[in-house]
Amino acid sequence: LFDNTPFLVADPDLADWGRKEIVIAEKEMPGLMAIRRKYGDSKPLKGARITGSLHMTIQTAVLIETLVELGADVRWASCNIFSTQDHAAAAVAARGIPVFAWKGESLTEYWECTFRALKHRESGPHLIVDDGGDASLLVHKGLEMEKGDKWVDTSSDSEEEDIIKKLLKKVRMEDDHFWRRVTESLQGISEETTTGVNRLYRMAREKTLLVPAINVNDSVTKSKFDNKYGCRESLADGIKRATDVMIAGKTVVICGFGDVGKGCAESMRGLGAKVIINEIDPICALQAAMAGYVVKPIEDSLKEGDIFVTATGNRDIIRLEHMMKMKDHAICCNIGHFDNEIQISRLKAMEGVERTEVKPQVDLYTFPDGHSIFILAEGRLVNLGCATGHPSFVMSCSFSNQVLAQMDLWERGKERDVSVYTLPRKLDEEVAALHLEHLGVKLSKLNEEQAEYIGVTVDGPFKPGHYRY
Ligand code: NAI
Repeated sequence: LFDNTPFLVADPDLADWGRKEIVIAEKEMPGLMAIRRKYGDSKPLKGARITGSLHMTIQTAVLIETLVELGADVRWASCNIFSTQDHAAAAVAARGIPVFAWKGESLTEYWECTFRALKHRESGPHLIVDDGGDASLLVHKGLEMEKGDKWVDTSSDSEEEDIIKKLLKKVRMEDDHFWRRVTESLQGISEETTTGVNRLYRMAREKTLLVPAINVNDSVTKSKFDNKYGCRESLADGIKRATDVMIAGKTVVICGFGDVGKGCAESMRGLGAKVIINEIDPICALQAAMAGYVVKPIEDSLKEGDIFVTATGNRDIIRLEHMMKMKDHAICCNIGHFDNEIQISRLKAMEGVERTEVKPQVDLYTFPDGHSIFILAEGRLVNLGCATGHPSFVMSCSFSNQVLAQMDLWERGKERDVSVYTLPRKLDEEVAALHLEHLGVKLSKLNEEQAEYIGVTVDGPFKPGHYRY
């Protein structure tokens, strides 16, 4: 763990292929490329040590190389055991950037890779780019352990808790003050996704958050685009690559009608499926009903559903009891951040259940009564486990926000109170603006009288803070 391994990837020979795809992606990522043009010379991230824990895909490679071009010293791991694109990791490693990620890591390897990405020589990063909060969790848990504080469970999966504890003990045996040094230099975290953001707000409420954090997810140009339009494309991609199933005419049950659920539902309806939504929030349930979907609990959808998709960011959504009642060859998958939305560990532990691997990330589980269901990506993010995640263009919106957040934290992290912030609306509008030309969009222009009439300035921000889009 403490050796100076420069990188760990599946196959360094995939670098040329990765590079070709990175060059193609750059054309589809106008926001990141504009940021490179604007800040490439002044190097606003010069001196910043950055650790990323975010799906190591082709699009992420463009993000990493943007951070490097702005002057940062970057180390990277993936935030999911199945989401790495090995050719992307190889291409980044070939540029001399330390990356520790491959598709199909074990959980132990996953946490060790996260540690390696966090360890910058004898110290840690100044800044973390997190997706789901695992890198931040390791830092916070590491410090707690060093201080001898009581361990508070963080995950519903005790196997994973044990792996984290073992890793932290190993670190402690090598270096008793490692996490203290890490937290001394750390000055900010920017978080990509809903689930990670929820973790940050909880830590802020409980006053355990160590440094200021920027909630990138709730930039409008992130959650209203990546979560929605990204999933609208990558959910179908994941299901199709895994199963080749015809979606038209089928019944698809989507659990959760937040930003991700909205995109998933539109995607499945667009392909001709009948869509049923499960929701607990009356506002989202009403939205689903008025968009024309049937809304009812999962228990009432089990006999109808051909495909089940969890998109809640919550745990135990599809329970073992549900799976036992599903149709033969029903497909179950999750597009939320963690794998605890579907009770896979209970399924695996059930007596008499047989697992047949059809191919990597596609398993058929047969119950004692003879019916079988498919589980995709072992219940982890289906779009990144069974396909390649969202397309470049929408990731350019998300990652432009990430770069702006990192620049903000590098410049102002030390002065900011320890709290969770969002980026100002003006920057959100700028990110959107950077993506218009690529789609041939021409904006209309306000005149002074109109701007005065609606109470804004002609150059924006165009909406008040409470506006919901
Ligand atoms: P959200 O908070 O907007 O939506 C989640 C919805 O699930 C809410 O409307 C909530 O009321 C509902 N919900 C919660 N518990 C439920 C239950 N027991 N039954 C039915 N509905 C329930 O969150 P968002 O942004 O849609 O994200 C959802 C998850 O997807 C998060 O874990 C997020 O991190 C992840 N995500 C995954 C992406 C991917 O590419 N796979 C992209 C973006 C987000």
